[in-house]
Amino acid sequence: MEIKSAEFVMSNSDVAKCPKNLLPEYAFIGRSNVGKSSLINMLTNRKSLAKTSGRPGKTQLINHFLINKNWHLVDLPGYGYARVSKSSKKTFQKFITDYFNQREQLVSAFVLVDIRHKPQPIDLDFMAWMGENGIPFSIIFTKADKLKPQAILNHVADYSAVLLETWEAMPNYFITSSSKEVGKDQLLKYIHDLNEN
Ligand code: GTP
Ligand code: MG
Repeated sequence: MEIKSAEFVMSNSDVAKCPKNLLPEYAFIGRSNVGKSSLINMLTNRKSLAKTSGRPGKTQLINHFLINKNWHLVDLPGYGYARVSKSSKKTFQKFITDYFNQREQLVSAFVLVDIRHKPQPIDLDFMAWMGENGIPFSIIFTKADKLKPQAILNHVADYSAVLLETWEAMPNYFITSSSKEVGKDQLLKYIHDLNEN
């Protein structure tokens, strides 16, 4: 699929105020700094459509982007950022869980994990929560440019071995690098096919 247009629509912390139309949407979630916003820029061929930062905690709101005038990409804040206060963590959890539980337009979420790290409880817990709540998701391994090809295969195999301890099957997954534009065609094709169904 070719991205012909990508426009920022709105940011907010209340799912009730998100766009009311029924365009299909896809949301990116994962630990702070994993590369959610960078991936949106890579997919849309834009350097700073979504704001990125080397410091975790950059994205704080639900951000809607309209793609090709007929579907949405959604950039979400990251979880697991230690410097956020307890009360703002709670508010955050609430608006993110509300988003996933209430957003009927959501076709699929993408849970991003850094390919370099071993499976972390926070990500496994989040995926378990998605499963319990019936929210479809795929996994996106990010920052693949940081590892050699064999190490990528090993890390994915380790990840799936851990997931298969609790899941019946490995979820659909993608290997990406925003800096090297890896995984772009596969992800866009996946979204395109879902949009057609
Ligand atoms: P929050 O909004 O804070 O939750 O973070 P985020 O998940 O949106 O991460 P963001 O896209 O802001 O990227 C965080 C850092 O990782 C930035 O310094 C990016 O340049 C870097 N980064 C993102 N993707 C990649 C990648 O594919 N490869 C490499 N090497 N660095 C990346
Ligand atoms: Mg971000």
